[in-house]
Amino acid sequence: MLSNQAGDGKRSSVHGHWSSRMAFILAVTGSAVGLGNIWKFPYIAGQNGGGAFVLVYLLCVVLIGMPVMMSEILIGRRGRRNPVRTMELLGQEEGGSRHWKLVGGMGVLAGVLILSYYSVVAGWTLAYILKSVSGAFVGATPDAVGAQFGNFVGDWRLIGLAHTVFMALSIFVVARGVERGLEQAVRFMVPALLLLMLLLLGYSINSGYFGQGLAFMFTPDFERLTWGSVLAALGQAFFTLSIGMGAVMAYGAYLPEETSITGASAAVVTADTAIAMLAGLAIFPLVFANNLTPADGPGLVFNTLPLAFGQMAGGVFFSTIFFVLLSFAAWTSAIGLMEPGVAWIVEHFNKTRAQATIAIGLLIWVIGFGSVLSFNVLSDFKFLAGTIFDNVDYLTSNIMLPLGGLLIVVFAGWVMCRNSTSDELGTSGALFKVWRLLARFVAPIGILIVLINAVR
Ligand code: PHE
Repeated sequence: MLSNQAGDGKRSSVHGHWSSRMAFILAVTGSAVGLGNIWKFPYIAGQNGGGAFVLVYLLCVVLIGMPVMMSEILIGRRGRRNPVRTMELLGQEEGGSRHWKLVGGMGVLAGVLILSYYSVVAGWTLAYILKSVSGAFVGATPDAVGAQFGNFVGDWRLIGLAHTVFMALSIFVVARGVERGLEQAVRFMVPALLLLMLLLLGYSINSGYFGQGLAFMFTPDFERLTWGSVLAALGQAFFTLSIGMGAVMAYGAYLPEETSITGASAAVVTADTAIAMLAGLAIFPLVFANNLTPADGPGLVFNTLPLAFGQMAGGVFFSTIFFVLLSFAAWTSAIGLMEPGVAWIVEHFNKTRAQATIAIGLLIWVIGFGSVLSFNVLSDFKFLAGTIFDNVDYLTSNIMLPLGGLLIVVFAGWVMCRNSTSDELGTSGALFKVWRLLARFVAPIGILIVLINAVR
């Protein structure tokens, strides 16, 4: 690298590109790695019976998630605007129609709705930092840990406050556009999170129930697999990879021309999947060791991991670090959730970044109270998929993201001309052919089959 920087005119550009590529990979990884991996994956896998669900999820990640992510990045880089404008622009350019901007619009809406409940759960992780510091989990029994969680989410003022604090933090960082600080944070956070997951894994291996956890996650029982769980696996693949709503498209808009989209996507997908698998392997043995149930729902992580921390040496320290890191991971994901909307408002309505962020942030904060109340005052108010929280989650993860992803691959695979896409992907060789096969046939047909069977 240094030898290339010897005094000619290219010096700064070579260095600049390297740094930007890293910045891009870190930003997308920061957006992908979050509550989806550590909080949502284990509880959804638990609710859907484990093994078969995990297998379908992994297939969705590779066969659908990967081509959708590559399509999103290449569309973003080609358009170089906010997702709404980019889809409109490319829609016209590639001979289609302007209406493709609706895909961008749906993404903005999905981001708002997802963050409205994501922030509530992120608020729990913030509160669990304080609980960890105060030693609340030291030597605690499963019942005591469960009661702590129940009492906490049962008080709407407490979790409303935590949600408010998290939204304030998110608005603050997005409004200031502190990419530099973010880059450093992600660079440290992802490896640190991996290390802590390994520590927890070590603990789980010693729990005496590791085999049971492993069997639950990797022994597929296809009898138990319904179309509903297949859709949940597909939705989880989209959610955890941050695809289908324009976050990755917005980030792709700032990507240097010569960066390999395939390489960047593969790196992000690998890191994200590894962290989710580790989370499952750490949590399920604890579930069985403590006589808990895998189908415990959104409280699963909060009812299991504190048990491990409460029993290990240095548990107060590790538990505190863990929830700090998880909050950070949620924070960097929140930025990705707001970015499409903020970029759109800035460009379309000519507002400053701060104004756009505050407007979107306040809207999200207000909507979030629907989810805050779902765990207490309105916990019995159920329709369609369950509580308000359940419905917002179902609508976004299981409908909006797969639909967005479907339209994105159809656009990249069928509407954009072959040359535009091979140009962006930097090859027309075997790799390009595989991508095109997945983007034109496998991904769209797969998404359609699952959506049709699960929703009818
Ligand atoms: N991928 C994030 C997570 O797993 C959530 C997310 C979804 C972030 C969509 C941005 C866009 O926590």
